[in-house]
Amino acid sequence: MSELLKLANHYKSDKGSSTGSGTHFALLYEHFFGHLKDEKIKILEIGLNNGGPEHGSARLDRVITDCPSIKMWHHYFSNGDIWGWDINNIDIELLKSMKRFKFFKGDQGDIDSYKNFESLTNSVYPGNNMFDIIIDDGSHAFYHQQLSFVHLSKMLKPGGYYVIEDTHWQPDRTQGGSKLGGHAPFDKEQLPSTVNTRKLFDSIFIGKDHGTLVPNYGINEALRAPASENMFLSCEPESKTPHFGTNSDFKSLDQFNNMRNHLDTLNQKRPEYASELFNEMKLYDRILLNDRTLGQDLRRKAFVLKIIILKKRD
Ligand SMILES: C[S@@+](CC[C@H](N)C(=O)[O-])C[C@H]1O[C@@H](n2cnc3c(N)ncnc32)[C@H](O)[C@@H]1O
Repeated sequence: MSELLKLANHYKSDKGSSTGSGTHFALLYEHFFGHLKDEKIKILEIGLNNGGPEHGSARLDRVITDCPSIKMWHHYFSNGDIWGWDINNIDIELLKSMKRFKFFKGDQGDIDSYKNFESLTNSVYPGNNMFDIIIDDGSHAFYHQQLSFVHLSKMLKPGGYYVIEDTHWQPDRTQGGSKLGGHAPFDKEQLPSTVNTRKLFDSIFIGKDHGTLVPNYGINEALRAPASENMFLSCEPESKTPHFGTNSDFKSLDQFNNMRNHLDTLNQKRPEYASELFNEMKLYDRILLNDRTLGQDLRRKAFVLKIIILKKRD
């Protein structure tokens, strides 16, 4: 069995196969991050323990007493610095139990949290606070996912990985956003309105499917390039004339219009970050998660439709 999957199961993270929904994301992570195992990396994960305020405001005052995926990362990346970011406080004994674990208390929906995180990491690593891996496993609200990407992408090294987990679920009242008591603080009615993160990324990363079966850790063949610079230019929200046909990445006019619609809607709803988000997206390739890039066994086990894995270009 994969080492990371064993650790996920041992620490009872649902990134494994035996706890909760058993997403098997650990298999994907080992496949793509395994070559970094012994490196002195910096990894940040937003979201420490299931059952937080994404399930009800009564959980806003919770103190976190377990952090399965942080324990898994700490064990696996034995030379890495493991940063955990959460809106809840953490039990001090838990924090002290792992010597390379660093905790940041912040809210994904609060701009000041990003500023504070940047200052804190700058003081810990003067002039070198860029991360190798950033995983967003926080509230899962579209607005939070997008705000985190806009701000934290700037703290990811070239060649680094940015991951958004559980893109299929929203902390809405209807989907369990208040099931653990209180109102649903991250219901879509409570947060600024925006587009669906998965659909946004799907509409933009449409380049040709270059995927072929890759051995563990080899990802060059597993990248799906986003639109080329030309294509992005022709799709800027203010550009009224689509230059469809100038770029062979588009397979159809529908695909082109889909991208335009998403960008236009994002720009109308969230003008304060639409262009920034778009500019950050241009820096990435998206990793294809299919039979050819993962092999049938891994592709079938891992919940590939619930996760987005991006690689920042070198
Ligand atoms: C799905 S759980 C994380 C599970 C954990 N990563 C694991 O694999 O075991 C989500 C976490 O996100 C945190 N969270 C919810 N809303 C947040 C927000 N607005 N900002 C930061 N963290 C948030 C919750 O407190 C909770 O710990």
